[in-house]
Amino acid sequence: MKILAYGVRDDERPYFEVWQKDHSDVTLSLTPAILNSQTVNEATGCDGISVLQTDPIDDKIFDRLSRENVRNVSSRIVGTDAMDLKTAKRLAIKLTNVPAYSPAAIAEFTVSQLMQLLRHTRRFEAKIRQQDFRWAPDVSQELNQQTVGVIGTGRIGRAAIQIYRGFGAKIVAYDVYHDAELEKQGVYVDSLADLYKASTVITLHAPATDDDFHMLDAAAFSQMNDGVWIVNAGRGTLINSQALIEALDSGKVAGAALDTYEKELPIFNHDLRDQKIADPIFNNLLARENVLMTPHIAFYTNVAVKNMVRVSLDHNLSLIQTGTSEDRVI
Ligand code: COI
Repeated sequence: MKILAYGVRDDERPYFEVWQKDHSDVTLSLTPAILNSQTVNEATGCDGISVLQTDPIDDKIFDRLSRENVRNVSSRIVGTDAMDLKTAKRLAIKLTNVPAYSPAAIAEFTVSQLMQLLRHTRRFEAKIRQQDFRWAPDVSQELNQQTVGVIGTGRIGRAAIQIYRGFGAKIVAYDVYHDAELEKQGVYVDSLADLYKASTVITLHAPATDDDFHMLDAAAFSQMNDGVWIVNAGRGTLINSQALIEALDSGKVAGAALDTYEKELPIFNHDLRDQKIADPIFNNLLARENVLMTPHIAFYTNVAVKNMVRVSLDHNLSLIQTGTSEDRVI
């Protein structure tokens, strides 16, 4: 059996090596290249592939895979929004993801980013660097006083709720699918408008779909409380970035922690130290002391990386050997 893993980073390699040791009947090959139209031919002769990327896997790539008889695809991430699932399904390609590599990793990160926003950490760091050690006027807010509106109550949203409760924050939540336990606790509101009205913090844990593209737009911001805090470690497309800039300018939004950005692909996880970024909206957000921009790192912990590798390879092997697996997307 042959499996090729695309997009392999050095920090993943030890986990691939451990898996390979435990599966001597599999020939596992690793490449740092992501799957695209130039690299798809490397999969020829493989029984399955493992991928980790937010770069698109479009109809042409799935078509090439199918023509090469490579129909077992296992993603090491949760999100499938960059993949042309319709085409993959039509071509009888089987796809798995890793929906729970570490919900805590992302939940913990979002809470810590919110706390930095509330305590004006970035502002104080900037002041301190200029030897300005005064407190005023940057008085902070306390997490226990906030009403956190959680949009999306899947594994990550629920993990975040648990942490927020530990801090004494009040929770309201919105999701089209209701978790039975949270339902019993009465945290759900009936509409996004109700959530916007009730929340002093809004944290996004929804997947990117056609329906929630630019969910937070000018109309949504106008329904929120003045001085609301926004946290997004879900997908960049959930927020209309220009509308966010206007909401930050007007003070409607007090600050934002953004671990995703709608046009992040050419920027995040790239070394652009000697380059000018030609995206004025991104540059505008990056320059603000009340915006914490991070390059899609909420997931990036040792626990998550280990699970992403191990679980995706287990799934791929299961697809190859049994024709199916846990965590089938299609
Ligand atoms: C996901 O798992 O969907 C992520 O956003 C993680 C990232 C490595 C793309």
